[in-house]
Amino acid sequence: MGIFYLWRNSITGFRRRLPYKKIRNALLAKYEQKRNQLCPRAFPFTAIIDPANICQLSCPLCPTGQKVEGRKPGVMKLHTADRIIEEIGDYLIDVELDNWGEPFLNPDIYEIISRFSGKRIQTSISTNLSFEKQFDPQEIIKCGLDHLIVSIDGATEKTYQKYRVGGNFELVLSNLRKLVEEKKRLSSAKPFLTMKFLVFPHNLNEQEAFQKLANEIRADRVWFKSPYFVRTLIDRLYPKMSPEQLSQFATPVVKRKNCHWLWTSVAFSWDGAVSPCCFGISYHPRWDFGNILHQSFREIWLSQVYQESRAVFLGQKPKDDRAKFCELCTHRGG
Ligand SMILES: C[S@@+](CC[C@H](N)C(=O)[O-])C[C@H]1O[C@@H](n2cnc3c(N)ncnc32)[C@H](O)[C@@H]1O
Ligand code: SF4
Repeated sequence: MGIFYLWRNSITGFRRRLPYKKIRNALLAKYEQKRNQLCPRAFPFTAIIDPANICQLSCPLCPTGQKVEGRKPGVMKLHTADRIIEEIGDYLIDVELDNWGEPFLNPDIYEIISRFSGKRIQTSISTNLSFEKQFDPQEIIKCGLDHLIVSIDGATEKTYQKYRVGGNFELVLSNLRKLVEEKKRLSSAKPFLTMKFLVFPHNLNEQEAFQKLANEIRADRVWFKSPYFVRTLIDRLYPKMSPEQLSQFATPVVKRKNCHWLWTSVAFSWDGAVSPCCFGISYHPRWDFGNILHQSFREIWLSQVYQESRAVFLGQKPKDDRAKFCELCTHRGG
């Protein structure tokens, strides 16, 4: 029997017993981030893992929905998820299983969740929930998922359709109700249910109605969030609005002294590619820092390009093109 610590997730409130090894690694990662260590000894303790970069919807500001050229479309195989677990599973505290597509279009999604959950890793997923075939409320509960975030962005069919193009509002609500019913039947608090609402100019007036809808469905939380506006895609949603007019709705630019991603977190694409974060850099393979199927994680984590990216925060100019992404990122410190 090792030493365990009780760790509480700040959003869901769920507690999990974590081995000392995970806690020690997380504390060391934060310490090394503060010190801007270029070759950290700690591994990341959170990760974004993309089970699929394909989607059945066509959201106007999503590069996947708009078929912007990027990584080859595909779904993560079980052996790729296993490689991630073998390499860093002992250190991960939580993972988000979505990024550039609809995660439930991966036929192995329930098994993938269950494998991460079995390693004492908290799991969360964001989904459009607009599907029938892959929707199995019993499986969603049985696989051990901690947090399900459902992207809806409207309280009426008409408004919903404006962003979730190709989705089915009534189907999403019916799936949500079935899941809440199943949780009740099995007396399960999991998954914690968040209904998400990106606040755009077109749905601004439906926030109150959305809150009421969430109360009626008995969701655990409503999340109103500012969207980002990809400049090249804006015209598809708001042809008559200037970027300046839209900027009041956008996620504010964050100024940071250094970026936690490079020390505490990491992103994996469906094909095993490793990226320093989940922003645009992971959309196209030309920016990849390595691949977990061909290298050890340590090799990638301590690679020249990772070191150069961390050194950006010491004011050094990167030589590698890929590290320039961190230099240009709007989230970095001024
Ligand atoms: C690209 S989606 C993939 C997961 C899933 N297909 C979904 O839509 O929830 C990942 C997250 O990005 C959010 N998202 C989509 N468009 C966005 C935008 N323009 N600004 C900010 N977040 C956005 C979604 O609501 C979701 O929570
Ligand atoms: S549902 Fe998600 S992945 Fe699909 S197009 Fe919309 S934002 Fe993109």
